Amino acid sequence: MNDNLVIQWFPGHMAKTRRLIGESIKQVDLVAEIRDARIPLSSSNPEIAKIVENKPRIVLLNKCDMADDNTTSLWIEHLKNEGVPAIAVDAKSGKGLSLFSPLVENILKEKRERLIKKGLVNLSLKIMIVGVPNVGKSSFINRMSKGSKAKVEDRPGVTRGNQWYNIGNNIMMLDTPGVLWPKFDDEQVAQNLAFTGAVKDAVIDVELLAVRLLEVLKVNYRSMLCDRYKLDEDDCELEAFDLLELIGRKRGMLISGGEINTERTSNMLLDEFRGIKIGRISLERP
Ligand code: G4P
Repeated sequence: MNDNLVIQWFPGHMAKTRRLIGESIKQVDLVAEIRDARIPLSSSNPEIAKIVENKPRIVLLNKCDMADDNTTSLWIEHLKNEGVPAIAVDAKSGKGLSLFSPLVENILKEKRERLIKKGLVNLSLKIMIVGVPNVGKSSFINRMSKGSKAKVEDRPGVTRGNQWYNIGNNIMMLDTPGVLWPKFDDEQVAQNLAFTGAVKDAVIDVELLAVRLLEVLKVNYRSMLCDRYKLDEDDCELEAFDLLELIGRKRGMLISGGEINTERTSNMLLDEFRGIKIGRISLERP
């Protein structure tokens, strides 16, 4: 097993991406940053505050159906204390999405009042979605734009090619999200992104990844792990690789000669984690 988690992932277009996002951000009143509720730190962008400049920002902790509710609540509180309003959402089922427009409206209340005073009663507030790959930006935009309104035409002063959806309550959302980059040079971040499948397994050592996942699970989610793989509490005292072998043996993942097929076991473990079979698991805590 190679003990280096090597991830080659994001192409070096950061400056260009940043410039393009910067142009769109000029057009909006608020930026909604989507993060993965299981890894709110690793799925954030290290320069988000700078990128957003002085625009109000909110955080959507998406995939909350996959994360542990208690930890998600702690994150919401933590972000709030940092001055960033946050809500938990599940763009797949639609849970939590009804909180979105009221939150935007509340944050932009003063702006709305100023517009109304000027007689601009029907002027829409504009928002933009940003986030690192795989956090659910497209799913969110698709959900929010469904049903209601057709796309609004390009408007003067808006970056060419940008289209807007009217998501109700005089709020418009840019149809294209800003794709941010994670702090991919940080080993822990790379590992967390790999656990969630944001990084393709083809570029990483799957056995090393499974072992690292077990190291986390046997400490923080021991009873879920034991339930799923019919382990005893004592088994969790094993070194993670030995635990992986034990799980493989219990699942009958053998190769000729009775040896455990640890690669297959690793793929199975990662698939089951990503498929929420082990349970709702948060990998980062505030
Ligand atoms: P992106 O634009 O930020 O890159 O993310 P995208 O919407 O493409 O979502 C990435 C994956 O995450 C998709 O799965 C999507 O269905 C899933 N997803 C998005 N939001 C949620 C959520 O709130 N909960 C859950 N459980 N999953 C979510 P996929 O396997 O790539 O595609 P598919 O299975 O939908 O076909």
